Amino acid sequence: MAARIIGTGSYVPDRIITNDDLAEMVETSDAWIVERTGIHSRRITETGTTDMAVRAARNAMENAGLPPEELELIIVGTSTGDCLFPNTACEVQAALGAEKAVCFDLSAACSGFLFSLNTAKVYLESGAYRTALVVGADTLSKTVDWSDRSTCILFGDGAGAAVLESSAAEQSLWNRGVGDFIMGSDGSRGECLACRSTELCSPFLGEKKTSGFMTMNGQEVFRFAVKTVPRSIEEVLKKAGVTPDEIKYFILHQANERIIASVAKRMKQDSAKFPMNLAQYGNTSGASIPVLLDEINRKGLLKQGDKLIISGFGAGLTWGATLVVW
Ligand code: COA
Repeated sequence: MAARIIGTGSYVPDRIITNDDLAEMVETSDAWIVERTGIHSRRITETGTTDMAVRAARNAMENAGLPPEELELIIVGTSTGDCLFPNTACEVQAALGAEKAVCFDLSAACSGFLFSLNTAKVYLESGAYRTALVVGADTLSKTVDWSDRSTCILFGDGAGAAVLESSAAEQSLWNRGVGDFIMGSDGSRGECLACRSTELCSPFLGEKKTSGFMTMNGQEVFRFAVKTVPRSIEEVLKKAGVTPDEIKYFILHQANERIIASVAKRMKQDSAKFPMNLAQYGNTSGASIPVLLDEINRKGLLKQGDKLIISGFGAGLTWGATLVVW
């Protein structure tokens, strides 16, 4: 069995917040933000994670031409669901009317879509399910302290999705589909990017705690990314026996233009092979990869047989890379 992407979709909120807007809220400037990150603006939701996830999912289902009643699995990669329970995937299921699907969320922050995609692939290849919807959706705007200039400039909201189907081809013979992947985690470095938003709260505790905002050691995260991202891509290419030159696009998590440029340089690849949309959307966490994938797909830039690398990293720490043959 092989797991193939048969449709993509995305949604970003209408409300645009520019760097100049932020400069009215914190001590910063458009020039500083653009130089250090490449970000010019971001989108901010007024409806939340579930609404964005549903819109992206509908888009992807339409693109795939798959009726909702044929969906067997829904995984939403998110760390900012609207509810602690039910999970976002169940809410997406209800909105789509995908009654047969089994639904769960997967929390791996900015690696959420990548981890969810690989999880769906394994389920599909095992024969447990035939079809899957994988969504990456996040509302980082509710985790950010909007008076902290070191974090609030980086993030935006959005959602992206992909529909997968298993095909009967033997794994050894697959020529299209989600291929080799590697994933990694290092919980010992969790503190460098964290959000303790759900604090203990009960009448049995003396002190009432309030919700916290995201905290980040930007330089440590930057160093982690420029080291781990190229290494994980090299590892997955080696595993698959594919060279970097054979890759049409490297679809990287959209965190910072300088991180992406550094990976391109280290891989000795033309930066044109590293598409970006972070200038308009900022870092949309679990949504960044599927939103970019959908943009490329809808522009007609993907042809059957094209090899793509999808690579993500984020809080946890977590990271991973996957080879996809379109
Ligand atoms: N506007 C203006 N000045 C700012 C600023 C802002 N928004 N944020 C920080 N500064 C200041 C700092 O206070 C510091 O001033 P000082 O030298 O007087 O102390 C100076 O700019 C440099 O700060 P520094 O943190 O060293 O900047 P940097 O070049 O490392 O860039 C990040 C900061 C956050 C852009 C960068 O570290 C980064 O992108 N890290 C990765 C973060 C990330 O991707 N997180 C999500 C991962 S999924």
